[in-house]
Amino acid sequence: MSSILQCMECAQQYPIQRVIYTCESCGGLLDVNHDFGAIGKTLTRDLFDGRLGAFESPYNSGVWRYKELVLPGVDDRAVVSRMEGNTNLYELPRIAAYAGIDTIFLKHEGENPTGSFKDRGMTTGVTQAKALGMARVACASTGNTSASMASYAARAGMQGIIFLQNQQIALGKLAQGIAFGATCLQINADFDRNMELVQEVSERLGIYVLNSVNPFRLEGQKSIMFEALQQLRWRAPDWIVAPGGNLGNSSAFGKGLREMFEVGLIDRMPRLAIVQAEGANPLYRHFRAGFKDFKPVKAETIATAIKIGNPVNLQKAIRTLEWTSGLVEEVSDQQIMDAKAMIDGVGIGCEPASACSVAGAKKLVERGIIKRGDTVLGLLTGHVLKDPEATIGYHADQLDGISPKYRNRMLQADDDIDEIVRLLQ
Ligand code: F0G
Repeated sequence: MSSILQCMECAQQYPIQRVIYTCESCGGLLDVNHDFGAIGKTLTRDLFDGRLGAFESPYNSGVWRYKELVLPGVDDRAVVSRMEGNTNLYELPRIAAYAGIDTIFLKHEGENPTGSFKDRGMTTGVTQAKALGMARVACASTGNTSASMASYAARAGMQGIIFLQNQQIALGKLAQGIAFGATCLQINADFDRNMELVQEVSERLGIYVLNSVNPFRLEGQKSIMFEALQQLRWRAPDWIVAPGGNLGNSSAFGKGLREMFEVGLIDRMPRLAIVQAEGANPLYRHFRAGFKDFKPVKAETIATAIKIGNPVNLQKAIRTLEWTSGLVEEVSDQQIMDAKAMIDGVGIGCEPASACSVAGAKKLVERGIIKRGDTVLGLLTGHVLKDPEATIGYHADQLDGISPKYRNRMLQADDDIDEIVRLLQ
């Protein structure tokens, strides 16, 4: 079965062996497209259900379980995997009640090997880098992409190079990049500028770019949808709600859902709601303006993972919104941190950006767009340990402009039994 690179704007095609991220003739974003023609009919629910619980590589991965839909041409032994995916889907009545609906499922992508959904795109991106014979890979990152790339590059014996903004990178993420041995460049620039820098520097030095502008990343990230829908016994929910930053996930979800619908794995398309932070809301503004005259924003939010003002996958995200009759919502940092405290408080936990899903679902219910009886699938994108400073700052009431509604106040006591007993009574 063959795969090709194809421009989403002008349909120009390129072989997948080319190191190219945008179309040479029109500058459009590229898709990796697979010809499902002959084998489309064999891609059944039974095929993928039959691989559940597999011990053998690569089907023990929650990405490569769907290999035919992800990167069909790769030799199984050439796959660089950490058995990513296979993340849990939680049905959470207390979170549903908080959002004002009957049923919500949260898929916890923070349960991936490096603690975020990025591992799903990194296994395919690094596998492709290896197939191309690359020695060095690079990315700009708000933290999770770099943590993931550092891990997979180390696994594959490649040098990982990460471009980080010089402020506001969450501690857990920074620690991972350093620990996994990547070359870490802290640059006096924000994420959006680093995104430009990494592309220019990589072109000059022949380094492979593993940001989500690389379409092989998105092929892996589609598997979030495949796996979630399989866990829902292939019944599409009414809504899927996910945070949006660089819009890689949004782009991958649209492509993945459409392909599932085309090969008959699902019989209807769910609607996608992309949720952005108010201070980092370029897609929200663009959506409200009827997609006329896109303007980047200077981003600022406590959800540092999505502190992005000029998303590279903008056009693919717009295409997803068309394919899924989707919409875009924005939420405040206060709403994000309160929703996070709720998710943390039921014992599941997530990093701030992830809480956009629940905060956004709640707001869409309040606005009458999501109905009480609708089934909602929310994405939790990162692990609670990624950003300890935001969590502790919230509960200590030390975050500027945020008053913690669901505070878990820390108690202090002397070495005094009576005092401790009094505190706990
Ligand atoms: N949630 C988390 C935890 C993230 O790390 C990111 C993106 C997003 C949501 C947004 O996803 O970019 O696909 O729209 N983090 C990137 C990074 C940008 O560098 O780690 P997106």
